[in-house]
Amino acid sequence: MTARTSDIEKAAGVLRSGGLVAIPTETVYGLGADAENPAAVSRIFQVKGRPPSHPLIVHLGGSAQLDDWVEEVPTTARLLAEHFWPGPLTLVLRRGPRVPLEATGGLETVAVRVPDHPVTRALLADFGGGVTAPSANRFGQVSPTTANDVRAELGDAVDFVLDGGPCEVGVESTIVDATGGNPSILRPGGVTREDLEAVLGRPLPVPSTSRVRVPGQHPSHYAPRARVVLVEPEKVVAEAELAQESGHRVGVLLPPSCAGTPVKAHTKVAVPGSTAAYARGLYGFLREFDQRGCDLVVASLPTEEGLGLAIANRLRRAAGPRPTA
Ligand code: TXA
Ligand code: MG
Repeated sequence: MTARTSDIEKAAGVLRSGGLVAIPTETVYGLGADAENPAAVSRIFQVKGRPPSHPLIVHLGGSAQLDDWVEEVPTTARLLAEHFWPGPLTLVLRRGPRVPLEATGGLETVAVRVPDHPVTRALLADFGGGVTAPSANRFGQVSPTTANDVRAELGDAVDFVLDGGPCEVGVESTIVDATGGNPSILRPGGVTREDLEAVLGRPLPVPSTSRVRVPGQHPSHYAPRARVVLVEPEKVVAEAELAQESGHRVGVLLPPSCAGTPVKAHTKVAVPGSTAAYARGLYGFLREFDQRGCDLVVASLPTEEGLGLAIANRLRRAAGPRPTA
């Protein structure tokens, strides 16, 4: 915990006066505003360059507040909240009257979560209300996992950056549609599918990456400036060499199972030692490739188990078709 009590009080004051505060969470940094202040919520969309129809997550200080923000809490949602909060799980539920439509992009449902980070938990306790926060990056770009990433990404557009050190998990929360009796995963993330299924006692549907399920999930998202290509592990060396010979500056990102792969042609190679380290480092590596001037990232997916499912989802989106404008 890097922020001091005075920082937390300052951040709560900024939120109360309708300002924007970057908040550390266990997943990624968020760009926070008072959820009940529609003008402040609208500013988030301006700063991010995000279309106003894309809904935000409301962050709460504890599970006890859930009933204040949603219309109804089905039994399965209560079970998941009890097991995984505070933590990297977001539940989509029916919107309560406290949630302005600005925060939900006009939807009658709302996404809520209780983050597990000591600095932001202290802020939420001091502030008392809900904080709407998308990831603190410009629309479509790589999410920030350090306070410096936020400053580099948003500069003066954010009123205060609360520094909570590097994010532990590194990929966003798992989003579960819990409005009905049959929950489904809308976005894989920090809570694994296996852990959710163990608690629910049944399999959970997961969307295929190619289908756009909810607003705000375009094919190209979480993307660095460099183009990202996904290849089989055994083709990485050849692909990187070919690209370098034709004049590209190449970044290489490999799963832990590829440790020891002799990649020579590269500007930077990253081979995290575990799936958790891959998730924690993923966005930092993508940012670093950009900073080193790479114009191409050759990456291999991890197996889609545990956190590997979320990593593969983000890399597929990073490699997805980019807007041509
Ligand atoms: O880990 C996280 O979830 C981070 C930290 C800051 O909490 N936040 C985050 O927010 O990733 P954002 O805005 O980058 O992504 C939120 C996702 C979007 O894909 C949005 O479409 C979805 O949540 N979402 C929000 N409200 C929804 C709703 N009512 N129904 C379906 N999807 C919703
Ligand atoms: Mg985001």
